[in-house]
Amino acid sequence: MVAEITPKDIDLNDEHVAKTAASPENRLSSGTSHVVVGVSHAYVCPIGKQIWLEGIRINPKYRRMGIASKLTYQMIKHGKEIGSNAREAAAITAQGNTASRRMMEKNGFHEKAKWTYYAGYKKNVQQANMNGLTIRNYVFENNQSNVSDDDTSAICGSKNVSFASPEDIEKIITFLSGSKTFISGARRYVQSWKWYELGLEYSKISDLVACKKIVIVRTDDMQEIGGLAITNNSLHKGYCAEQNQMEDKEQKKDDNEEENAAYDDEDSSLQIVYVDAPTSASLENLLVFVVNIILSSNLFDRIQLFTPNQINHEKYEFYEISEVLAKFGISKSESFLLYTRSI
Ligand SMILES: CC(C)(COP(=O)(O)OP(=O)(O)OC[C@H]1O[C@@H](n2cnc3c(N)ncnc32)[C@H](O)[C@@H]1OP(=O)(O)O)[C@@H](O)C(=O)NCCC(=O)NCCS
Repeated sequence: MVAEITPKDIDLNDEHVAKTAASPENRLSSGTSHVVVGVSHAYVCPIGKQIWLEGIRINPKYRRMGIASKLTYQMIKHGKEIGSNAREAAAITAQGNTASRRMMEKNGFHEKAKWTYYAGYKKNVQQANMNGLTIRNYVFENNQSNVSDDDTSAICGSKNVSFASPEDIEKIITFLSGSKTFISGARRYVQSWKWYELGLEYSKISDLVACKKIVIVRTDDMQEIGGLAITNNSLHKGYCAEQNQMEDKEQKKDDNEEENAAYDDEDSSLQIVYVDAPTSASLENLLVFVVNIILSSNLFDRIQLFTPNQINHEKYEFYEISEVLAKFGISKSESFLLYTRSI
């Protein structure tokens, strides 16, 4: 959506606004009918429950005139028209973006969760020195096994870590249902920079498992799940496409749009879009597995990791997630706040 302004919208009694609008670079002198002063993007999420708001940008010369608020109102109105099931509007904003946070709050949004974004880059790629540290050969130093590139399941650092299989689905649901980390992250996971609710229905978890997007670490007795990571693992893109063919046509269309959007934007990045690791050892094991996939494939040049605050189980010691990630050369990039509003 765009916000346009016309000379008749200008309050000529407001000296600042009138002067700004009349300046040549703003093209609001007489004879110009309207000018775009703001843009935004609204997206009705696949199952239609949520309207995702993003990319609001207002020309600096026209800020504090209520334009972003009007765009927000219009995006929600339009979203409700096309997604009649929508019950919530949501957006993410950087923790340090005061203007954006105040704007959201003034428009009835509440802070729902805090997430942190981390990134690491493979050695010898261009971004390595610009945006973050390089991923160290931590895994290879500790793992002498010699495996072929396509056998990623064989190269995990610990026997306790693997892609989840259908037998694990009930356990995954039980694990997440009782997880304080899951609750602190507002029961979301990230897809193409949108924070979607992760329903704990059997079918939803089953889809993620079928596409090998869930990596689990088991407890030492191998009976329970001791931590998990959800990825956007495009290594198994072909496999997912096969699965999708078996699904109902309408659903398939939605899924493919989602998948394609994710791969178009992030095709050289392996993302961990949710991580839940009650101990530093479980986090380390999950990372060894995922980082190994990245290092053994030429499809990826970086890792991106999105995580809610890790809430430790009472019986375990507190650990600092950034300290574990630093061992892999993955560093903190930014903290984000999820804002939501009932509609
Ligand atoms: C954030 C942004 C979209 C706000 O646009 P805007 O049109 O100025 O917002 P509004 O006029 O609707 O502001 C509504 C309220 O938000 C708050 N607000 C907006 N800008 C603010 C600022 N710089 N500091 C403090 N509060 C601010 C105020 O409460 C304001 O009401 P008031 O002017 O009556 O006090 C704009 O500053 C912008 O484009 N920033 C750069 C891009 C960006 O950060 N976008 C959001 C990322 S998701």
